[in-house]
Amino acid sequence: MIKINNFQEYEAAFSFAQEQPEAFWGEVAKDFVWLKPWDQVLNWDFENPTIEWYKGAQTNITVNCLDRHLPQRAHQTAVIWEPNSPNDEAVSLTYAELHSRVSKVGNALRKMGVQKGDRVCVYMPMIPELLIAVLACARIGAVHSVVFAGFSASSLSDRIIDADAKVVLTSDGAMRGNKTIAIKEIVDEALLKCPSVTNVLCFKYLGMPIHWVEGRDLDWSLEELMASDNCPPEVMEATDMLFILYTSGSTGKPKGVVHSTAGYMVYSEFTFRNMFQYQEGEVFWCTADLGWITGHTYLTYGPLLAGATTVVFEGIPTWPGPDRFWQVIERHSVNILYTAPTAIRSLMSFGHEYPERYPMESLRVLGSVGEPINEEAWHWYHEHVGKSRCALIDSWWQTETGGAMITPLAGITPEKPSYAGLPMPGVQLLLVDSEGNEIHGNNVEGNLCIKFPTPGMLQTTYGDHERCRQTYFSTYKNLYFTGDGARRDEDGYYRILGRVDDVINVSGHRMGTAEVENAINEHHTVIESAVVGYPHEVKGQGIYAFVITEHAVHDQDQARKEIIDVVSKLIGPIARPDKIQFVRGLPKTRSGKIMRRILRKIAEGDATSLGDITTLTDPTVVKDIIQGALVAVNTA
Ligand code: WT7
Repeated sequence: MIKINNFQEYEAAFSFAQEQPEAFWGEVAKDFVWLKPWDQVLNWDFENPTIEWYKGAQTNITVNCLDRHLPQRAHQTAVIWEPNSPNDEAVSLTYAELHSRVSKVGNALRKMGVQKGDRVCVYMPMIPELLIAVLACARIGAVHSVVFAGFSASSLSDRIIDADAKVVLTSDGAMRGNKTIAIKEIVDEALLKCPSVTNVLCFKYLGMPIHWVEGRDLDWSLEELMASDNCPPEVMEATDMLFILYTSGSTGKPKGVVHSTAGYMVYSEFTFRNMFQYQEGEVFWCTADLGWITGHTYLTYGPLLAGATTVVFEGIPTWPGPDRFWQVIERHSVNILYTAPTAIRSLMSFGHEYPERYPMESLRVLGSVGEPINEEAWHWYHEHVGKSRCALIDSWWQTETGGAMITPLAGITPEKPSYAGLPMPGVQLLLVDSEGNEIHGNNVEGNLCIKFPTPGMLQTTYGDHERCRQTYFSTYKNLYFTGDGARRDEDGYYRILGRVDDVINVSGHRMGTAEVENAINEHHTVIESAVVGYPHEVKGQGIYAFVITEHAVHDQDQARKEIIDVVSKLIGPIARPDKIQFVRGLPKTRSGKIMRRILRKIAEGDATSLGDITTLTDPTVVKDIIQGALVAVNTA
């Protein structure tokens, strides 16, 4: 274990990791429970790519999350569950209770025939059983693929099919603010297309009426009750798959990012402990859903590996009022809060009176993740939530990196509003120009790349290694390309400028524009569409769709509503366009490529500097689009 306690130690750790990466990561990994030690810390090659950490070692991540803590922490709270409604009671699980429930569910899965390496899809709300589900899979060596429960049946079935999942873990329903969502119904619909699934383990959480398929569906509570709490952990090779998590890219189909057992384990604990400067006994609250990587690394694995208490919140920031977050912090004496800029901006719009009513004296560290945090939101968070006395860390990373890559270490490395700051020890960054030439020095901008592996880095994309190579390792030779642009300032601090590929970031959720276009094109009158992001006050980026229909649209509001319905049905409500503009043509080059640069400018409301448009087949469409953009295109 390496714990960095001050700036000198950060600098020392950074140099050590740069000069002797294997010695450094060997040292970091020392204090975990290994069933067999590694033969080699790292075997890598970015060309193929191969990234193998701690090769030869054997372990099980749940032994490190649970069993190893039992001697000292059996009665310490591992999980605090804060339900959707503040009138319902919070539930706590100690490390001993979590260990026992994970073991029982692990045994229930084994009884269903799930074996090491089998894929299990988890589609559940933010209840303690969701964490139990994930850990139970890891216990028996099954590969979990958590799908965010806001995705549609169609997105769910795509992911189940791609992973060839054998079992689905779910609940009858979910609560979100004042809404009840029929989760099991969505699973039932998805499974119509998924013959690989033999069993569904359903947690009857709300007691709502559900359809039950005899022989396929099993009652979670019953199975858990009948199972033994002695569940020997599966022996996992360091490089065995721990989980798959689907994420969007520039092409239409989301890809399954694969993380390994040992590298991911070491990196999530190391970054958790150091970026938040976690202190023994603290209560940590990450507001992300487990359906995203932040929920995997910093809601579940990171804190449990470190023996912390993690808060699981089922609700939303604005219900029943915009002070819900602050109430939760007071109620559970939260010490570290990790949330997204979109939540901050949305709460900011209700005024600072709300956080002002709560002293939140327990808070020590504030974290931000998922999208760039603008200066105004940074200051509001720092002053009104942190009362100007908490460290604020803006952490940059990706589903593919498994854990934080560029981030201040709370209270140790200096903070600069809107800057993610300095890289974690072991993270070797560089900026390149479009030809892949390194941009040296400070006060520069370029495409952000990584030249050396970190233990949290993805192994492959599930079922398609070539796609992994193509997507991340082929743009620039021997480099991992992040897809982000970044600026390095005079002090060497990094500021993330946003995606330079066809990916947009809506409320911290990553969305491929092609994915949204494919969904829109499913509407029966749509011929073609082009989707771009535009600056949105709360969401960071909003979704702007330019749509060509077969015939002129008479009732535009109706047509917009229908398109939104199609997108919600095919992807999920998070992908609904904020603006839809009907156009007669799209700006295309003679080779038929849509010039998105032009559409982006128009969507940003900045049509004065479109640059050269003479290469377009029909430059007159641009004028029409600019004019059309001036009339109402909002979908809300
Ligand atoms: C993309 C990755 C990090 C886990 C949640 C999102 C953007 C992420 C920041 C930040 C500016 C950020 C990047 C990145 N992003 N964190 N602190 N500042 N941008 O994971 O869904 O894989 O998305 O989110 O564009 O590439 P993800």
